Amino acid sequence: MEDVYILGIESSCDETAVSVVKNGRTVLSNVINTQIPIHTVYGGVVPEIASRNHIDNISDVTKKAVQDAKIDLNQINAVACTYGPGLVGALLVGLSYGKALSYALKKPLVGVNHIQGHIAGNYITYPDLEPPFLCVMMSGGNTQIVYVKDYLDFEVLGRTKDDAIGEAFDKVARVIGLGYPGGPKIDKMATLGIPNIELPKTHIEGMDFSFSGIKTAVINLHHKEPDINKENLCASFEKAVTDMLMEKVKLAVEKTNANKIVLAGGVSANTYIRSEFEKLQNQGIKVYMPDLNLCTDNAAMIASAGYYNYINGKIDDLTLNAVPNLKL
Ligand code: KG4
Repeated sequence: MEDVYILGIESSCDETAVSVVKNGRTVLSNVINTQIPIHTVYGGVVPEIASRNHIDNISDVTKKAVQDAKIDLNQINAVACTYGPGLVGALLVGLSYGKALSYALKKPLVGVNHIQGHIAGNYITYPDLEPPFLCVMMSGGNTQIVYVKDYLDFEVLGRTKDDAIGEAFDKVARVIGLGYPGGPKIDKMATLGIPNIELPKTHIEGMDFSFSGIKTAVINLHHKEPDINKENLCASFEKAVTDMLMEKVKLAVEKTNANKIVLAGGVSANTYIRSEFEKLQNQGIKVYMPDLNLCTDNAAMIASAGYYNYINGKIDDLTLNAVPNLKL
């Protein structure tokens, strides 16, 4: 079979990213321009600023991705773009650019769901990984447990009813003065503390989650006791959140009999969460964690997901629009 080259474009939040991936698994280039330093000043992502920066960066990022891949643009089989979920203005920049490329090159346009992209990040880290498996998707905008039955066949078993897990990390970090993005900062601080503070855990029927209660509890506690030990608070927050997560993961394993669990999304970079998932290996479950640079937003994962859409004939036309609340 001839090699298939997909150019992936990602612009759903504050990363402008373009990548070229061969046969869904081999990364030829992976260029990411992050706007984190720009949004840090505001304590979070400002959508309008994100869109403007995507516009400024998308051409240069694309040129570099094609150069790094050492291929000619005409060798690309299709252009894969994130079309949701995400910030509508930010999504529109990458999608419009992708449409223009697809039109100019006369190559198919392939729309990719950002969550499907995060799952596919693991196909790059683990070239032998194949469905079926359970995926625990944990990012700044989404938290869900997905049963990946096949490359394009997903069953969402549970999802957050309110805040995404990454959102809870970021909000807690902001209130206790760690800054943005909070996840990595809480991660680092928690390694210095002990989880000795009792925090309330929300129990919801089935496999859905809720993280807003614990977030509020931590924030209230910090307001009440401003001198509380932050290291211990971070460690306790991480432990409580992870306990809630693992309870639902166990239910999902029981329901599906899955023996493979795949992590995805920015929060899967978390040291404590990774170590708790590793323990599942003792129960005969194989745990897959994406490389750290493939956990957070990137376009290699979009190109990989785009490859599976493309080879299965899931191709879009130029009327494809951004869908901010797109579901899997
Ligand atoms: O997947 P991602 O890059 O973007 C979305 O699609 O949302 O995830 C970003 C989220 C942010 O909330 C960030 O704070 C969190 O991932 N994050 C972490 C860590 N690294 C990134 N959360 C906890 N521990 C980390 N080490």
